[in-house]
Amino acid sequence: QVEYCLRGSRRWVPRVCYKRSSLRSSASDLRQERVSGTHCGSESAPALPVSVDYRLVSETAEWKGLEAHSEEIKRLHLRELMRDAERVRSLRAEFDGIYLDYSRQRVNRQTMQLLFDLARRTRLTDKIRAMQSGAHINATEGRAVLHTALRADRRATLVVDGVDVIREVWEVLDHVRDFSERVRNGIHRGVTGKPLRNVIAVGIGGSYLGPDFVHEAFRTDPDAFEAAKGRHLHFLSNVDPVDIKRCTQDLSADETLIIVVSKSFTTAETLLNARAMREWLWSQLGRSEDVVRHHMVACSSNVKMVEKFGIDPRNTFEFWDWVGGRYSVCSAVGALPLSIQYGFASFARFLEGARSVDSNFYDVSRPLEGNLPVIMGLLGVWNLSFLGYKSRALHPYAEALLKFPAHIQQVDMESNGKHVTLRGDDVDYAVGEIDFGEPGTNGQHSFFQLLHMGQPVPCDFIGFIESQYPLCIEGEPVSNADELMANFFAQPDALAYGKTAEECRVEGRPEWLIPHLVTTGNRPSLSLLLPRLDPYTTGQLLALYEHRTAVQGFVWDINSFDQWGVELGKVLAKRVRKQLNESRYYGHRISEEFNVSTRDLMERYLRGQVG
Ligand code: F6P
Repeated sequence: QVEYCLRGSRRWVPRVCYKRSSLRSSASDLRQERVSGTHCGSESAPALPVSVDYRLVSETAEWKGLEAHSEEIKRLHLRELMRDAERVRSLRAEFDGIYLDYSRQRVNRQTMQLLFDLARRTRLTDKIRAMQSGAHINATEGRAVLHTALRADRRATLVVDGVDVIREVWEVLDHVRDFSERVRNGIHRGVTGKPLRNVIAVGIGGSYLGPDFVHEAFRTDPDAFEAAKGRHLHFLSNVDPVDIKRCTQDLSADETLIIVVSKSFTTAETLLNARAMREWLWSQLGRSEDVVRHHMVACSSNVKMVEKFGIDPRNTFEFWDWVGGRYSVCSAVGALPLSIQYGFASFARFLEGARSVDSNFYDVSRPLEGNLPVIMGLLGVWNLSFLGYKSRALHPYAEALLKFPAHIQQVDMESNGKHVTLRGDDVDYAVGEIDFGEPGTNGQHSFFQLLHMGQPVPCDFIGFIESQYPLCIEGEPVSNADELMANFFAQPDALAYGKTAEECRVEGRPEWLIPHLVTTGNRPSLSLLLPRLDPYTTGQLLALYEHRTAVQGFVWDINSFDQWGVELGKVLAKRVRKQLNESRYYGHRISEEFNVSTRDLMERYLRGQVG
């Protein structure tokens, strides 16, 4: 039984309190389901917590209805669609200070109806409930997907497979709070007795991108800035030794704490960087276990390997197999570096913001029409699978969100970059967009030319009413923030309306130039407006985009929570690593197992000469 209730009260929260069996779709599912453990090595595929009555969603009447409808929509230009004020007013939603305007999407009310019908047909709400409850929706790894438990209210209870996961989450968060305060207050010091004012977080992928994005978002928040005075946080992610140089060149080891962040504690790049940092510490402070114990801590779910490395188990901050790497920023992975840098209070606000959007996402007893992540996810499905837009660009009009597009790129592309359904059938529809983005207005001066005149790419614009730094220069017509936001308001209309030949003629442009000036418009976007970028809204944005990705995966019927594709590259790198070692140090010839191209490239590399 999966239970979810408020700890300390006897009151059940009905919408999230139900038995696991209610998630099963048939008696045979019930017999087959294995409640715990991993399914990876088992002979038969595990039963899915929510089964559907079709092989491919593209075979359903709802999908076909949308395909037919897309032909009608393709004939309409956003210029016409935007003229219908009632339509525009109907395509907006609001939740806890987040205002979503999706009137510049190539949709009308019928499109949205059909998309919500598709959501119902795919049992979206059951899938969301299954995720919330801790059912093993990551079927290929036999795991629950519970990153929302990482930001649950500490008074809540979520019992999965006999374990109260929220209690465990808060035990670790309390540990983080305690340790980070001891570092910040100079109680936990370096081996020479100096306070540890520098932190290097060593990790890659999900063990780096999320914390880095949040670090940047907090850096200019006035409260977080005050709390961080005199402290420095660096991230070492790339195995390129130059990254080590860039991280350490201004630091002295006696004032530096290294956090090794790796869920598996087996990622080659991270472990090599961790060993390199240990050498760096030893080179300045002497080769002793004490140095490691004072200067190195870890966030990992592989406690045994951490201990083997030499890190004090008391300074290991655990997380669980039900937290995917790319969804781990709310665990110790983000909590530890960010709490040391900014204090635990800011991190707790970040968790609260994410929790707020989780409550919107999980509130599936209410109409989905008010569920922001669901709306955004369905629009993503519409744009890619029905209108054929292969990419999506994310433009925060906030410099402090400069790393947000990169983080969401991993969240989305590692999650939805798949080619088969949960049952292993090839999809015959497009899934998983190509995500990229840059803060505005910088993006406008780099790749926006293509967005306006080249390939159309649906865009998400994110703006804030109040700036973290409200600068107003005397004599200027508008404040600096207004200048920024002028572009936030202008770009979506430029993309939607474009510029016709007629308009160019009215401007008196010569006829020969007009073809070069015309912008076709009809390029979809959505706008998100929030009060101000602070730890709370940073958490809201994170959850919004995490759940958007989940919604798309649920509708496409793929597993958004595994990442088998990255394994092949890791295996091949292992072979090459072995060969480089044998050739470099033992003079072995490069094996004929490698193809001619790889052999030639490696030979030139080992020879130290291109030619
Ligand atoms: O290479 C893929 C990946 O497994 C990501 O999913 C993950 O975020 C990253 O590597 C790092 O993994 P770990 O935290 O186990 O070192």
